[in-house]
Amino acid sequence: MIRLENLTKIYGEGHSAMKVVDDVSLDLPQGEICVLLGPSGCGKTTTMKMINRLIQPTSGKVFIDGKDTSTVDPIELRRTIGYVIQQIGLFPNKTIEDNICVVPDLLGWDRPKSRARAKELLDLVGLQPDLFLKRYPRELSGGQQQRVGVLRALAADPPVMLMDEPFGAIDPINREVIQEEFLKIQKKIRKTIIFVSHDLDEAVKMADKIAIFRSGKLEQFASPNELLARPANGFIESFLGSDRALKRLRLVSVQAAMQPEFVTVSMAEPVEQALARMRSRGAAAAFVVNAEGRAEAVLTVEAIEGHSGSIADFAQPATVSVPITGDLRQAVSLMFAHAMPVLPCVDGGGKLCGVMTYRAIVQNLVGGKT
Ligand SMILES: Nc1ncnc2c1ncn2[C@@H]1O[C@H](COP(=O)(O)OP(=O)(O)OP(=O)(O)O)[C@@H](O)[C@H]1O
Ligand SMILES: [Mg+2]
Repeated sequence: MIRLENLTKIYGEGHSAMKVVDDVSLDLPQGEICVLLGPSGCGKTTTMKMINRLIQPTSGKVFIDGKDTSTVDPIELRRTIGYVIQQIGLFPNKTIEDNICVVPDLLGWDRPKSRARAKELLDLVGLQPDLFLKRYPRELSGGQQQRVGVLRALAADPPVMLMDEPFGAIDPINREVIQEEFLKIQKKIRKTIIFVSHDLDEAVKMADKIAIFRSGKLEQFASPNELLARPANGFIESFLGSDRALKRLRLVSVQAAMQPEFVTVSMAEPVEQALARMRSRGAAAAFVVNAEGRAEAVLTVEAIEGHSGSIADFAQPATVSVPITGDLRQAVSLMFAHAMPVLPCVDGGGKLCGVMTYRAIVQNLVGGKT
């Protein structure tokens, strides 16, 4: 959908010539979010502005939907690409409604259609249209303005969006909320998005692909999981930080990492018999499951080894569980908080679907599967 081919920008000439974007090639499929990440001055904004031709490339090409953008009138091109600039850039003398409708107005949409669109978009991000349509930007908080900035870029329903640190001005708590809101919207609208960020956590959360830049060069282009599992070089490794394995926990779902098979036991069963069954299945734990399929109690090999009696004497009530829709960060957090080496994994109805163990988590991280 978006393809950069040997894209290069050089400022200055002769001795003072500086390559600020150096031979960058990448290919982003339709509907994906690509986060451009890297230290200040590495060429992220310049790369982004060459896509909508606010900056003219020195050499190389940009293709959108197979079309060489250098053959399109730049003004026309920009009307088909949503653009969120870092400083929000709402027009102070226009109402929120008119701000959102800037591009639809330029495109000549009729007024009822564009105004209905503004209303629909405000609803989408939880800003009540009756309250906000007629206000001016100065009457909104910074975070609200930033949301309107994103809506304005979405207003004409462009297939491509460029977003330069769109959530940069928002405090960390609200930023998480807005990121999640945006991902929900993206699930419905499936735009192809280039997104600039300074923030690794934001990149890992938002990106289908991350492009890491250094001094104008694209150093690695990979999914967040691949990047965290296999940084291509020492620069990227140090950029990602020594806790990159922890960052990966969030990318793996409980459902993908859990062991879907589990051993069941009954309360009256002798422990020797249960232990033999657990050993033969290589299971670290077993569950007492009721008629509805819920885990009532959990039993570890450790707790019964060398003992005799019935399961009822050793089983612990299964009070803690992790939803299969959760991620490994959640699972690890529960394991630590409750000192549980195994966790029942449950579906929305509370039914036992699998087991999470410390070993499964480690295997997942080392094996690098998702
Ligand atoms: N008009 C210009 N003339 C000369 N050099 C420029 C010009 N515009 C940008 N640069 C240089 O190009 C490099 C890349 O700038 P760019 O704005 O793309 O960085 P960035 O990665 O977006 O950084 P930041 O994270 O700080 O926003 C910088 O070193 C900058 O000084
Ligand atoms: Mg920048």
